Parts: sequence; structure tokens; C-alpha cells
Amino acid sequence: MQSQNVILIDHPVIQTKLTELRDYTADHRKFRALVDEIASLMVYEVTRDWPTKPRPVQTPLERTTGRVLARRVTLVPILRAGLGMAEGVLRLLPDARLGHLGVYRDEKTLEPVSYYQKLPPDIASTEVLLIDPMLATGGSASAAVQFLKKAGVGSIRFVCIVAAPEGIAALHKQHPEVPVFCAAIDRQLNEKGYILPGLGDAGDRLFGT
Ligand code: PRP
Ligand code: URA
Repeated sequence: MQSQNVILIDHPVIQTKLTELRDYTADHRKFRALVDEIASLMVYEVTRDWPTKPRPVQTPLERTTGRVLARRVTLVPILRAGLGMAEGVLRLLPDARLGHLGVYRDEKTLEPVSYYQKLPPDIASTEVLLIDPMLATGGSASAAVQFLKKAGVGSIRFVCIVAAPEGIAALHKQHPEVPVFCAAIDRQLNEKGYILPGLGDAGDRLFGT
């Protein structure tokens, strides 16, 4: 399903795992495994229209021409919770480089606070997947996209598991060209900026804090 640069991946297997993820009884071990699996499954849709280039290959029987990804890939998790999706994505894109952006949102103001940035030097010429399980107010994602653009990145896809309509609107107000891939668009934010129905605090549930 697609509208206004939002791609909702409502595959039945992903939805089944997302429902288990929402369950408050899932402990950090189960939660971590589910985030990892969902991230992995999402990669197929997220990368579906990436360009490929021909590559000759010698099979045991003859020479032929296959196709491989045309551009290098950089994965950029937003710390902390984005780390929970990184391994799952890397399983399918093992040649990807990894950048890290540390952003947390101030509990009172809900404004994003950036505290760490480390990107591969050639990131500008790569396809970038920016990953974070939650898009709530959109502050963290917008700040991260802004940083990537300053680093010269031209192709950014934001991949999350649960998005709030408010977060999509805020991200697209500043960065309308950045596609949002998600497994769910939830109802709304509560007064504390948590997504409803959501799945709670993704970082805390992932890391057991
Ligand atoms: C969570 C989540 C996103 C952010 C989303 O991180 O992982 O980064 O909130 O909220 P926003 O759209 O309103 O900015 P958090 O700030 O809790 O930090 P953490 O990952 O270190 O727990
Ligand atoms: N961050 C989370 O981890 N969960 C929310 O519901 C909102 C922001």
C-alpha cells in the first residue's frame, strides 16, 4: 500500500510478528528477535526498485551475465533503538557499510538531541537506509535526515516498524522526498509523545533498560 511517499508493508508474516511485538508480555529477548526478523523481512520491499547492473559470472557449465546492485549501500541506525534493526537488514545486505547517528528525544520537550555522529566517508555516493523502529513526533528522524543531507547524501529511505501520522507529516514537511517504509501506521500520539496503540518504548524494550 502506498500514499504520499509512505509505503506500508502489510505482509501477513510481518503483521503476525508485529502483533507479537506489540504484546506487552514479550520480554527483551523475544522483542529483540522480533525486531530483527521484521527488519529483515522489510528489506525486500524497501529495496525492490533499486537499480542493478550487469555482472558476468562463470557457472559450472558456462559463462553468463547476472545482475547485482548498482550502488553501494550504507545502513544508518538511529541510536539506540535503530541498532535493533541493523543485524536483520545486514543479513540481506551483508556488504553494506554502517554509519551511526545518536539521537534521543528530550523527555519533556520531545525535541531531538543529537549526541553522536559517525558516517563512512563515501556515504554521499551510496544508497542510505536510515533505520529506527519508531517514527513518533518525527523529530529524531528529521534531525537524522538533515544530518545525512549535510553530509551530501542524495538517496535516503527511512525504514521504521511503527509510524504515527504526526511523525510522517512532520518528516515530510521538512523532507518530502524521503520515502517512509513502515509495517504499521498507528492511530495517534498520546500527550507524552508515545504512539498509540504502539509498542511502548522501543529502546527500553529492546535493551531491557
Ligand atoms: C525513540 C525511537 C526514535 C524516537 C522517535 O528513541 O527509537 O528514535 O524515540 O521519537 P520521535 O519521532 O518523537 O523523535 P528515544 O528517544 O527513546 O531514544 P533511545 O532509542 O535511545 O531509547
Ligand atoms: N519512541 C518510542 O520508543 N516509542 C514511542 O511510542 C514513541 C517514541
